Order: sequence, then C-alpha cells, then structure tokens
Amino acid sequence: MIIHSATFVKSSANIGQFPPNNYPEYGFVGRSNVGKSSLINCLCDRKNLAKTSSTPGKTQLINHFLINEAWYLADLPGYGYAKVSKGKREGFSKLITDYVTQRKNLLNLFVLVDSRIPPQAIDLEFMEFLGVKEIPFSILLTKTDKPTQKEFSQNFKDFKNALQQTWEELPPITLTSSLSGKGREEILSLIHDTNPLFKL
Ligand code: GTP
Ligand code: MG
Repeated sequence: MIIHSATFVKSSANIGQFPPNNYPEYGFVGRSNVGKSSLINCLCDRKNLAKTSSTPGKTQLINHFLINEAWYLADLPGYGYAKVSKGKREGFSKLITDYVTQRKNLLNLFVLVDSRIPPQAIDLEFMEFLGVKEIPFSILLTKTDKPTQKEFSQNFKDFKNALQQTWEELPPITLTSSLSGKGREEILSLIHDTNPLFKL
C-alpha cells in the first residue's frame, strides 16, 4: 500500500474528545518507550508525524492520524512507566482501557513488545485483558535491529513460551524495526486487507 497522505487529526485526553468513528482504525499500544510513535512514523514514511523521545512517557494523550483520507492510526500513551503515579503503573490507565473497550471503529490493536528484553508481566497481563474482552490484536516485536541474534532468539523463545501459558493458539507476531523498515510491508498489507471489513 502506498501512503500518499498522513495528517495529524487531534490529541484526546478522554473518549469524548476522539474524532468521529467514521473510518477504520488501528491502535498502537505497549510499554512506554517500546517504539510506538517511531513505528507510526516508519509506516507513514514521515520523520516527525508522531512525536518520539528517548525519555519514556512522552505520549500521554491519544493522538489520531488520518492516513490516505481513509483510515486512522491512533498512537496511545505507554503503560508500565515506573515514574508515573503508582496507580497508573500497576494497571492500565483509564484512557487506554476506555479506548480499547469502547472505540467502535477499532479493527485491530497492535500490541508492541520490546524484542531486546525478556517477557514482561505487564505485557502478558495486558494481552490477557484483551483476550477476556475479545478485542482483536496482533503483536509487533520492536527494535529487532538492536539485540544480537542470540539474545533475540532467547527472548523470542521465552516470549512464545510465556504466551503459551495463556493462549492455546498464539496471536500473530510480526518482527519490526523502525530503523530498517523491517515489518513495514506486513503491517501495511494487514491494514489493506482489514480495511474492507469496516462497516459504518
Ligand atoms: P512513549 O510515547 O513514551 O510511550 O514511547 P514510544 O513507545 O512512542 O517510543 P518512541 O517511538 O518515542 O521511541 C522510544 C525510543 O526508542 C527512541 O529513542 C527511539 O529512537 C527508539 N526506537 C524506536 N524504535 C526503534 C527501532 O526500531 N530501533 C531502535 N534501535 N531504536 C528504536
Ligand atoms: Mg510515543
């Protein structure tokens, strides 16, 4: 799929502020600093569409982008950032849970998981929550350019084992890198194939 336009629509602090749900939508969620905003920029082939930062917790609101005047990407705040208040760290913010459970035009949620580190309880808990709520999602392993082949293989194996504790059939997993563009075509073709399922 060719991206011919990508525009920032708005930032929202609660569901009442979201843009109208008149187009299919894809959300990007995951721990702070996992690479959500960078991957959105990579998909859209724009450097600064979504604000990125080496300081975790940069995105605190939900930012909507309209792509090709036909579908939305939503950049969510990170979860699991230790420096935000305890209540926020332990669970997932109300904004995130409201978004995933109430956004009617959300066709698929991309859950981003850092390929550089061992499986994290908070990611597994979040996906369990999605399972209980029957929210369609797929997993994007991020920053695959960073770990050595050996580290990556170990983390990937451990991650799949951890998922198997909960999931009889594993959710789809795509390996990505915003630096090299790895995974970009797979994600765009999933979006391309999913868009026609949208009904107003
Ligand atoms: P929050 O909005 O704070 O939750 O973070 P985020 O998930 O949006 O992460 P962001 O895209 O801002 O990236 C965080 C840091 O990781 C930045 O320093 C990025 O340059 C770096 N980064 C993101 N993606 C990649 C990647 O694919 N490879 C490498 N090596 N670094 C990456
Ligand atoms: Mg961000």
